[in-house]
Amino acid sequence: MTATETIHKKIEQLRDNLNRHNYLYYVEARTEISDYDFDKMMEELIKLEKEHPEFADPNSPSQKVGGEITKEFKSVKHKYAMLSLGNTYNEEELYDFDKRIRKVITDELVEYVCELKYDGVAIGLSYKNGKLVQAVTRGDGLQGDDVTANIKTVKSIPLVLHDNNYPDEFEIRGEVVMPFTEFEKLNKERIEIGEEPFANPRNTTAGTLKMQDSAVVAQRALDCYLYALYGDNLNYASHADGLKNAKQWGFKISSNTKVCSSIEEVIEFIAYWDKQRETLNVATDGIVIKVNSIDQQKKLGFTSKSPRWAIAYKYKAEQAATKLISISYQVGRTGAITPVANLEPVQLAGTTVKRASLHNADQIAKLDIREGDVVFVEKGGEIIPKVTGVDLSKRSENSHATHYIEKCPECNTILVRLEGEALHYCPNEDGCPPQIKGKLEHFTSRKAMNIDSFGSETIELLYNQHLIKNIADIYELKKEQILPLERMAEKSANNLIEGIIKSKEVPFERVLFAIGIRHVGETVAKKLARYFRSIDALSKATLEDLVMVDEIGDKIAKSILEYFSLSKHVELIERLKLYGLQFEMGEQAIATGNKLAGLSFVVSGTFKQFSRDEIKNIIEQNGGKNVSSVSSKTNYLLTGDEAGSSKLKKAEELKINIINEEQFLTLINI
Ligand code: IVH
Repeated sequence: MTATETIHKKIEQLRDNLNRHNYLYYVEARTEISDYDFDKMMEELIKLEKEHPEFADPNSPSQKVGGEITKEFKSVKHKYAMLSLGNTYNEEELYDFDKRIRKVITDELVEYVCELKYDGVAIGLSYKNGKLVQAVTRGDGLQGDDVTANIKTVKSIPLVLHDNNYPDEFEIRGEVVMPFTEFEKLNKERIEIGEEPFANPRNTTAGTLKMQDSAVVAQRALDCYLYALYGDNLNYASHADGLKNAKQWGFKISSNTKVCSSIEEVIEFIAYWDKQRETLNVATDGIVIKVNSIDQQKKLGFTSKSPRWAIAYKYKAEQAATKLISISYQVGRTGAITPVANLEPVQLAGTTVKRASLHNADQIAKLDIREGDVVFVEKGGEIIPKVTGVDLSKRSENSHATHYIEKCPECNTILVRLEGEALHYCPNEDGCPPQIKGKLEHFTSRKAMNIDSFGSETIELLYNQHLIKNIADIYELKKEQILPLERMAEKSANNLIEGIIKSKEVPFERVLFAIGIRHVGETVAKKLARYFRSIDALSKATLEDLVMVDEIGDKIAKSILEYFSLSKHVELIERLKLYGLQFEMGEQAIATGNKLAGLSFVVSGTFKQFSRDEIKNIIEQNGGKNVSSVSSKTNYLLTGDEAGSSKLKKAEELKINIINEEQFLTLINI
């Protein structure tokens, strides 16, 4: 075998292994290796693919981490129209469905397959010779959008099929969903950056599939359940067999599926899942009932809109009636006011509900919600229950129409409501306590400046003692000021000061996230930092400049322009610069050229200013070469924290230059 053949073989082995472990983890929910080992394998594959573009493969598991940008989603005509299903809401309608079927299928037994009706976004996946070639959304049923790059990042969707008994060409359809846990995590992050939380996992999934940057999609942990096969040579007699085959090819097929031999059995299945579905981590809104036999399906055929052989049973959104004790108003970090219903506790979909969302002033007015009313609360696809109506028959005669607050409940400032926005805001961003504390909490949080010992209690203490009132004040804090505070001791005060000093090393992209520009979340901050490289360049950018960056639209761009138009922000940043915070990307990252030509590097450990991948990129951009193990041909071992000890030992033995991050940066700066 030649050297290149060996590498090709290695790449294929890594791909096979990664495909297998992906499948085990995301489809079968089991593991055979640690996350760390999986990441290592992925890293190695990505590196080899970079070094050997001749072995590139659009279906390599490395596609799962994303990176491809789709500027415009191509419209694609469906080979088989994407129909919808008729709906039923009660037993009687199910019996009617059964009767209609039996009118056509008179002399045979009819079996039904019951499946959960996943509440997500329908997708059609086309495979050719066992490889995913295209993924298209439903659109209007006749043509949809090509979202292949984004779909490739969905971990449970196989890019390459298992076995080899699949048809050469076929399409499989299913539902892309966002698990509740992922949805909650995402919303938590959004609230943290002052964005309105997403309404429900379905809309969030739809929005995610239409994002330009597939690397962002990859981070959102979407999942996909498949439920229908389409093709010219599909070789099975029943729908259930088709699903069984698809499962063997590597697709995620729900195990909560049942073949029933009567409509009564179907009704039992429906009743069972009405409660049981609350235990699932994905949203479902009903049950789909399909005639099992393919011959019978063919006999039954289609109406213009839907198959006659299938129907959906939709669950009623669970509702409960309870008394609205009072309405309170919360002020968020960005000053957004959210009205909250305080309720007499009531059981709903398996949990006790005491509070519910009232959305905004319009919603309260529209539903004429009043304190003392008996209201209906619902938990639909949403996590947080919402008030959906009032039982007017139970309204007391002396109830008063709700007068939405005009002043901030925390600082008494007159609230404002921006054109086109649903929420009221307290504009007193520098004087309203929850806004100030919220900004401080955000600034010091783990993903921002990561000042460990700065919890919300410490912030409360420091704020109440007038020691800090904005983020720059943090860098003026002295140990003597902190020590006398409640629950502070020598050690905790030292930790706090050390944490503050250490935060000065936090790279620019995180500082940019930390300063809390509205709509600038973690990912956007990263994109901006990498594009503009410094706060000075960013502050001078025009609207046109800003929208050039992926994922940055008008809303974010305007918010950035507004931020820098205020002198108090400019002054704040000047102060932070003086304290030594990072307001530009490491100069070195820009450097490209041939300074490292002919030199080979082994990179080991974690670094301060860059991730390991970034360092490797810098090496390549400057003409150097990355190798994975130390040998006599290696020129440098570049070590960060926790560098591999065997590598260090070997480098010492072979008298290879061992350098750290700083020395490396000097090296490319010469
Ligand atoms: S079968 C010919 N099975 O519900 C239609 N659909 O209301 C074939 N859905 O567009 C669809 N779970 O997006 C089918 N187990 C399931 C489903 C399911 C969810 C969605 C799908 C479809 C819509 C119809």
